Amino acid sequence: MSERPRPTRDRRGFLRSLAALSSAAALPRIGRASARTSAATSPRTVATTLRAAPARRQVVGTDWPATEVWSYNAVVPGPEIRARRGDRLRVTVENGLAQETTVHWHGIRLPNAMDGVPHLTQQPIAPNGGRFEYTFDLPDAGTYWYHPHARSSEQVDRGLAGVLIVEESEPIRVDRDVTWVLDDWRLDRDARIVEDFDSLRDATHAGRIGNAVTVNGAVTESLPVRAGERLRVRLVNVANARIFALEFEDHAPRVIALDGHPVPPHPPAGGRVVLGPGMRADVVLDCGGEPGRRYRIIDRFSARLNYRVVDLAYSDGPALRASPLAASVALAPNPLPEPELAAAVRHRVEFAGGMMGGVRGGPEAMRALLRNGLAWTMNDVAAASHTPDPLLTVARGRTVLLEFVNATAWWHPIHLHGHAFRILTRNGRPEPLRPWADTALLAPEERAEVAFVADNPGRWMLHCHVLEHQGAGMMAVVHVR
Ligand code: C2O
Ligand code: CU
Repeated sequence: MSERPRPTRDRRGFLRSLAALSSAAALPRIGRASARTSAATSPRTVATTLRAAPARRQVVGTDWPATEVWSYNAVVPGPEIRARRGDRLRVTVENGLAQETTVHWHGIRLPNAMDGVPHLTQQPIAPNGGRFEYTFDLPDAGTYWYHPHARSSEQVDRGLAGVLIVEESEPIRVDRDVTWVLDDWRLDRDARIVEDFDSLRDATHAGRIGNAVTVNGAVTESLPVRAGERLRVRLVNVANARIFALEFEDHAPRVIALDGHPVPPHPPAGGRVVLGPGMRADVVLDCGGEPGRRYRIIDRFSARLNYRVVDLAYSDGPALRASPLAASVALAPNPLPEPELAAAVRHRVEFAGGMMGGVRGGPEAMRALLRNGLAWTMNDVAAASHTPDPLLTVARGRTVLLEFVNATAWWHPIHLHGHAFRILTRNGRPEPLRPWADTALLAPEERAEVAFVADNPGRWMLHCHVLEHQGAGMMAVVHVR
């Protein structure tokens, strides 16, 4: 076990002994104050503006210089947008960057024209002042997020990402509803972002892994809690490539939602909450620790490189209550169309390429791809843009069963736009809870079957959310018509 944040080997000296670290700040918030203060009201429109532009932020401790980032509204992560299920969201995006951008609303089942994929669903928002208005309804409650879909490896990495929370009409009872945005950054000794976004080494291996892990945009020593309180923690992994497997020392979190969608409350498998890039988990944490003590949250994803992400720091005061709240933590389901498996159209989607892997056509074909900055294929095609020919075309309303086959030596979080799917099996074995998700994390050589009703017309991305893999060809289009 080592100290957080974990620098990569060559930069080990850098972020090791951070002295002046802060407690995590709450995220700036737009929209409803909280579901608990607003009685059930009719749907309304939540309107806001997001301006993408450069800013300076204290990503590491105050002993280091501020970092030049790209941000929404000058904060990293971007403002937390809150609305309630059924509300309409209207967001005007202003592009203050010197390159094109878009905003994608990750996990939201919205009209195709609002999906934020450059050239596929909209013209990119022009640099230096371009604007675009996104307007759509929010059909599902849960934890979602937004980020650019243009040159994602660079734009998301530099800090463009924010959380979108859609509250239930009847939320569960908790003392605090908190959001922990997990990210990592590749910084040099002066806390500057290392600008090797097009590294072919990252693209062919695990993606751009950083050397500073942040919670809510800053390297964070501790998160304050009070004995006896019940937290709803919304975990969101906005890192380009890092996979987290969080263990809560001496605590027993219960997972209540994955990728926004409710699951029966359950302890995470193996005691670890696993989140690939793009993925979310809502967990209920009953703070049963002792006042004044600290408990570690440890990332155990890599067997060789466990590290402490952050501490839960208990205040000294007396416990809020003697025993945990008895109230149920089960969430009501979202109105998702149930796949009709007997009538499903089946498609196999094979992922290939990467280091220690191959593509059809052998080493020569692989070298040809690499010369063009590509390294991965889906059904033998490496997409060089957001507008490849559709991988599959399906009639609206059909149930689609996708068999994902990871024929590579690497992990891939595979994300589908515009829909949520049920994860049915992994390596032929039924997945116990058949959870709804928009992203399925595939281990090396793993297979998984997912199914969904293709009820949302349009051209939808299906891609790896390791953004360097996506940029190196690992994306495709599913056309629903
Ligand atoms: Cu989170 Cu295609 O994206
Ligand atoms: Cu990948």
